[in-house]
Amino acid sequence: MKLNLRPLHDLFAAEATGVSLTSPPDAATLAAIVAAMDRYAVLVFPDQDLTDAQQIAFSERLGPLETTVKTFRPDHRARLDLHLSDVSNLDENHHVIAADDRRRMNGLGNRLWHTDSSFKAIPARYSLLSAHAIPPDGGETEFADLRAAWDALPAAMQARVAPLIAEHSLLTSRATIGFTDFSPEETARLQPVPQRLVRTHPGSGRRSLYLASHAGSIRGMPLPEARVLLLDLMEHATQRRFVYTHRWRLHDLVIWDDRCTLHRARPFDMTVPRDMRRTTVSDARSTLDQAA
Ligand SMILES: [Fe+2]
Repeated sequence: MKLNLRPLHDLFAAEATGVSLTSPPDAATLAAIVAAMDRYAVLVFPDQDLTDAQQIAFSERLGPLETTVKTFRPDHRARLDLHLSDVSNLDENHHVIAADDRRRMNGLGNRLWHTDSSFKAIPARYSLLSAHAIPPDGGETEFADLRAAWDALPAAMQARVAPLIAEHSLLTSRATIGFTDFSPEETARLQPVPQRLVRTHPGSGRRSLYLASHAGSIRGMPLPEARVLLLDLMEHATQRRFVYTHRWRLHDLVIWDDRCTLHRARPFDMTVPRDMRRTTVSDARSTLDQAA
């Protein structure tokens, strides 16, 4: 199998064809996919009609998988395997959840710019999202290239932010949209974790910002100063010139590099099923143990 790449944006993102991911790729193909991820950070694989087991098997070739964060109530059962993050609007019986359902309120946090699992001490390396049912309109995913955003920062700002450590929590991003329905146990488990604000990508050697709406403070900086700096950086990084908008087709599999991109979901008609399933490859270690 030969991996063919077609750029989708002048900075990042490419369509990848020529390989079927229904069985795990051989070593050469896998290396080609990783190299393409290092170059493009977002790869769109069309027409990959994968079972959950096939998606998990392929994802595991890229590294250890995360298991889903339990923010469900005891009366909510998971619809999918615990290695799949359910990014759908469906309940465990595959029915569209109510407009005011707690799971939907929590899920609305995905409309904010973020990178997956930056609220975990060891965050995500890659996310792989497959489209099993899509609404006729809307529901796009937007991606922003944090390497290009870093490259475009003035040198003085690069020097200012390079040594900084931000603190990320799911509670921060959810509080931004007024969602605070967390139990004491969840609140204790979701306390902020430190992450470098600037990272060097081990595959490409490129530096990038590392931002998310989960970031709510910066170590050693007064809170208002940290918040306005984070807002300024987020505004800078999500300028239209750094953004690729993915319009989903059924059976697309999109892989993105969480170390150097942001993403967010766009609105769609909530009464229509949208069934998206994500596997998440964990990074090897804390960003604090990695090059700035
Ligand atoms: Fe996400």
